Amino acid sequence: MKHPIVQEDIDVIVSAIKKEAKQLEGKRILITGGTGFLGNYFLSVFYDLNKKVLKTPCKVIVIDNYITGDKKNILGLEKSSHFKFIEHDVRVPIKVSGNIDYIIHAAGIASPVYYMKYPLETIEVATKGTQNMLELARLKKVKSFLFSVQARYMVILTRTIYLPLKVTEAMFLRRVRDLAMMNQKDWVKLYV
Ligand SMILES: NC(=O)c1ccc[n+]([C@@H]2O[C@H](COP(=O)([O-])OP(=O)(O)OC[C@H]3O[C@@H](n4cnc5c(N)ncnc54)[C@H](O)[C@@H]3O)[C@@H](O)[C@H]2O)c1
Repeated sequence: MKHPIVQEDIDVIVSAIKKEAKQLEGKRILITGGTGFLGNYFLSVFYDLNKKVLKTPCKVIVIDNYITGDKKNILGLEKSSHFKFIEHDVRVPIKVSGNIDYIIHAAGIASPVYYMKYPLETIEVATKGTQNMLELARLKKVKSFLFSVQARYMVILTRTIYLPLKVTEAMFLRRVRDLAMMNQKDWVKLYV
């Protein structure tokens, strides 16, 4: 059962994109990081679109290694025949059978708590992980590839508010995230 506020968000999104969402009729979407914050919103929207809007449901392949994702976020969805969950680390290339129409690359390590704990994983999911997903996108000739880069102001805010670190140490650790994000943007540019 979703929190009523989250469900309200999902309802607003589904109702706002009803017309455009028709393009997803019968499409196959691959999403990485599906048990994370953004991923879970996407999954909930696809679930409700299938229930309320689409005549031919979209099929969703969800990839996550659960390094920070919460399996509780997908409770209920795993029972839907339109969703397939694959436990996989996107830093390793993956073969997916059949066509893929869209890729949403939402795997990443975004929280300062976790990118300090997993600095290498943070850089590698944004670099190797993004490259692997772009390669898959190229191979499958997807219609579009969506990824998201953290807004700078959020990094500064989280550093100031949450990190109990000396400034120099905090700035060094923030570079881990900056490096990851810069690399991710460069990989994507190479494929455009
Ligand atoms: N949340 C935001 O407001 C926001 C804004 C801009 C950009 N972003 C970016 O979007 C992405 C997702 O953000 P989020 O807030 O949902 O993060 P999140 O931490 O809530 O979720 C990330 C998900 O990715 C998974 N993951 C991490 N490394 C992986 C790997 N190697 N292989 C497979 N799965 C892996 C985690 O287990 C988790 O489920 C991040 O890259 C983040 O920087 C988020």
